[in-house]
Amino acid sequence: MKNYKIGLLRGDGIGPEIVDSAVRVLEAVGKKYDIGFTFTSYLIGGVAIDACGEPLPKETVDGCLQSDSVLLGAVGGPKWDNLAGNMRPEKALLGIRSAMGLFTNLRPAKLYPALKAECPLREDIVENGFDIMIVRELTGGIYFGERGYREGKYGEEAYDTESYSRMEIERIVRVAFETARKRRKKLTSIDKANVLETSRLWRKIVHEMANEYPDVEVSDMLVDNAAMQLVRNPSQFDVIVTSNMFGDILSDEASQITGSIGMLPSASLSDNTRGLYEPIHGSAPDIAGQNKANPIATILSASMMLLYAFNEREASEAIVSAVDKVLNQGLRTADLARGKDALTTVQMTDAIIENL
Ligand code: IPM
Ligand code: MG
Repeated sequence: MKNYKIGLLRGDGIGPEIVDSAVRVLEAVGKKYDIGFTFTSYLIGGVAIDACGEPLPKETVDGCLQSDSVLLGAVGGPKWDNLAGNMRPEKALLGIRSAMGLFTNLRPAKLYPALKAECPLREDIVENGFDIMIVRELTGGIYFGERGYREGKYGEEAYDTESYSRMEIERIVRVAFETARKRRKKLTSIDKANVLETSRLWRKIVHEMANEYPDVEVSDMLVDNAAMQLVRNPSQFDVIVTSNMFGDILSDEASQITGSIGMLPSASLSDNTRGLYEPIHGSAPDIAGQNKANPIATILSASMMLLYAFNEREASEAIVSAVDKVLNQGLRTADLARGKDALTTVQMTDAIIENL
């Protein structure tokens, strides 16, 4: 029997609950498809600050680098909000992405037919549904550029800088073209080339590389327009490729039109198979520990892990179809229940496992 070593980064807030749900689903699907998992937990974020005085201890980085794959819950919370920038829990997230070389962030956003009523967009807009794959650059741009404080002409000043090298742009754009090739062959590159130099380089490289992918229809879109198009006509998009910060913002927007941010998984990939899988939502401190969180985004992240890290297609698809089934049965956690009867985190997890 195959056995995969999975590092668990439960993190803060609802992180532990949703990771535990995904672990239960992995164990259940593993039993069915004869796949073994060995789970090891490492500290990250606020809990790591409390236990070790730093958000990303070296043992965590080493542990992740030695795992076959990593599953992460969420980090951060009000308790750690006033720490200096480099001591914040979020810094650990950037740190682990960088340490593992995870330059690609895949964030699929699709409308489940069962959730049409939960989508805030008008019915005629989502008539045909939508199925978007956001390819977000994850280890460059303004998130990692030079930053600081200085004394300026008018006193105190702060700055962050966006910079992208040709190498960084080429490798993420290549992932996006390859992804589009396996889907509906339509790629939208989103930038702010009317203002930003980094975007102009980005656009130039996209156009150069388009020659290698004549089968993919590629177009550019300015980010402000893209924000509008996502709610005006989301079905026009297949694959989107964009920078770190634009991808962060647009993927939250995309999640909302699927009905709930509690639905969206993500895969962060490097140029080897070792990746990190996490829901795109945060630690939701307001409902932490209450058995209320929607575990689906994390469970779907585990399904992405099975596919991308281990090429266990059947097991991966079994999870996706179990999620489909529970949604079709009308089962909802509180984020999607609109005041009606809601399942707890554990009940939703049980229902998904029953449907595997
Ligand atoms: C995300 C989050 C993170 C990001 C934060 C928590 C640093 O918003 O994964 O989208 O901005 O990348
Ligand atoms: Mg975000």
